[in-house]
Amino acid sequence: MQPVGKHADQVDSLLARSHDVIRNTGRQWGSLARQLHWLMAILLAVQFLLGKVGHELGRSPERLQVLTWHKSIGITLLLLVLIRLSWRLFNPTPEPPPESPRREIWAARAGHLALYCLMLALPLSGWVMNSAKNMPMNVFWLIPWPDIIAPNETIAEFAGETHETLAILLAVIVLGHIAAALRHHFLLGDDVLRRMLRNHRD
Ligand code: HEM
Ligand code: HEM
Repeated sequence: MQPVGKHADQVDSLLARSHDVIRNTGRQWGSLARQLHWLMAILLAVQFLLGKVGHELGRSPERLQVLTWHKSIGITLLLLVLIRLSWRLFNPTPEPPPESPRREIWAARAGHLALYCLMLALPLSGWVMNSAKNMPMNVFWLIPWPDIIAPNETIAEFAGETHETLAILLAVIVLGHIAAALRHHFLLGDDVLRRMLRNHRD
């Protein structure tokens, strides 16, 4: 027998909560995609801070400490983005709101693609810079990390400049990304931000 009235609503709400699915659907982000999105957003903010502080500090034990944290979190982010992209490959992604104009759908796709490229390119350029500078690296003071290329001063300098430029580009695109999310929520009043925050009911 089907539950009716208030009772039916409670059963529905319990089912909805127990269905906080890991996988994405065509209408909402699953819990893994959401958690990876927010974890990486927080770690990226920390990365900017550590990178800037490390850059400002002169040669000192503090600089070494700060940069070891920076490099370790950077390598963690590289692994996380690889997991995130693999997960995305085997999952549907939620459809844009039906009323979205085509140009906005394409702008969002291009923006997300750029963010993924930068999330790969930043740690890779950092790793290249570190190897080219011939600096040994232990991730979290624990895991000896291999060099990706042989020591080379010219490459070290180029990778350093690339790293800094890519970081500025990432910051600019993230600001646009945040503005777009807020526009969806407050001006367009759709579900785009909500579905990245929690698993809501269809
Ligand atoms: C997503 C990951 C990363 C982000 C967002 C990031 C961002 C940054 C930023 C904003 C700076 C300051 C740039 C400046 O003002 O000159 C910086 C510096 C630096 N980063 Fe990264 N980084 C990341 C990953 C890495 C990795 C994986 C490594 C090394 C394995 C690394 C090595 C360095 C070094 C050595 C500096 C200091 C450069 C200097 O003082 O000349 N970074 N990073
Ligand atoms: C306050 C900060 C942020 C907010 C409010 C936010 C909001 C959102 C929202 C609402 C979506 C879902 C878009 C959709 O359903 O079509 C999304 C997706 C995405 N966000 Fe963010 N975001 C933030 C920070 C970041 C940061 C720092 C990054 C990485 C640099 C990032 C990378 C992405 C990517 C790549 C997607 C697309 C996911 C995919 O298609 O696989 N976000 N974000």
